[in-house]
Amino acid sequence: MPFNAESALRANPPAPAQPWKGFPKYNFVGGHNDAASIPAIELAASVTSILGREGRDLATYGLQSGPQGYRPFREAIASMLNRRAGMKENQSSILVTSGSLQALSLIFDLFLDPGDVVFLEKACYGGTLSRLRARSVEYIGVELDEEGMQADALDEAIKQVKSAGKRPKMIYTIPTVQNPTGRVMSEARRRHILAVAAEHNLPIFEDDCYADLIFSGGRPPAIRALDEDGRVVYCGSFSKSIGPAIRVGFIAADWPILSRLLPLKTDGGTGAIEQMALTEYVATKFDAHVASLNQTLKIKAEAMADAIDEYFGAAAEFEKPQSGIFLWLKLPGSVDTSRLFQIAGAEGVAINPGVEWSTVEAYGKKRLRLCFANPSVNEIREGISKLADICHREFGVPQRSANIQR
Ligand SMILES: Cc1ncc(COP(=O)(O)O)c(C=O)c1O
Repeated sequence: MPFNAESALRANPPAPAQPWKGFPKYNFVGGHNDAASIPAIELAASVTSILGREGRDLATYGLQSGPQGYRPFREAIASMLNRRAGMKENQSSILVTSGSLQALSLIFDLFLDPGDVVFLEKACYGGTLSRLRARSVEYIGVELDEEGMQADALDEAIKQVKSAGKRPKMIYTIPTVQNPTGRVMSEARRRHILAVAAEHNLPIFEDDCYADLIFSGGRPPAIRALDEDGRVVYCGSFSKSIGPAIRVGFIAADWPILSRLLPLKTDGGTGAIEQMALTEYVATKFDAHVASLNQTLKIKAEAMADAIDEYFGAAAEFEKPQSGIFLWLKLPGSVDTSRLFQIAGAEGVAINPGVEWSTVEAYGKKRLRLCFANPSVNEIREGISKLADICHREFGVPQRSANIQR
């Protein structure tokens, strides 16, 4: 008799996954990157040279470097953060993780109990929101303006939570190239957010995986760079600056926090080969790589903005991306982007519906997130044209008008 797996599962298991059927023709979802920019040859050279020298260390968990990750890699990460984000790290303040998603899970596991309240930007990364919901943690979306999360609104939200007898527990922010809005928090705002956190004695979780993707000009210092109290725990990733399949991220934190995170990382260590592949590359070629990647992303961002202007006309509201890999698009209230996601997905155009990236349903329903990094400029134009057609057919938006040429 065939084994009935269903009857053997725990109570309330997750819904079953569907078999993967390949990417849709026009793929504007997720955090995929520009394929031609992947430095495959250089990554191979880095791993070959280190394996040739130190390959026998694969015989031990942790590569003779202990549970925080391959030591030369941690040194390269610390030096990159100090150079690019004004931080003051060294190898001992870094924990290498399997993607920054693992960093999110570890940090939330360490700090949060069911019923705790986390403050984050009103529009926020879906992977963060789902992890908080899974832990029965309440989250409160704080308004954003052009300088990022509003510090006064944050302060007010914390006070309200306190007066309702609930437990404010953490401020989570994506300050540099916010996902999905693309906003970059000003330095003044970073200091103000730090002051609010100090006032309420809360930790700040700074999720900074897009910070290298500012098309021109530098980035402000990390919030952790401005922190003198050790209250900021920082995470980064190579998913957006190199490629998401590598699955390597990192945490930077002071030892009182890092020493508590380490016992939670019970996976036997992040893969050695990917750490080796990145080590020499990050130490010697990273800055030139991201400068060139940013030029490519800028061209694709412009192509997407132009296509939306052309095919959606005045129906679409958005800020032309100056950084990152996403465009956050607002459509008129008659459009339900969750339905658009279903219908367009079935016709080969994949989008992220706004509700999954929002703390407020009515705000998210009119919005969608589009990733422009992976498709070609031609695919961007064709895909946006097709999306506009579907949206017109289903919701009457955009109305066919002179500024829509087909
Ligand atoms: C804000 C933010 N944090 C974390 C992640 C997780 O990325 P990864 O696990 O690939 O490093 C993402 C991915 O899109 C993200 O947007």
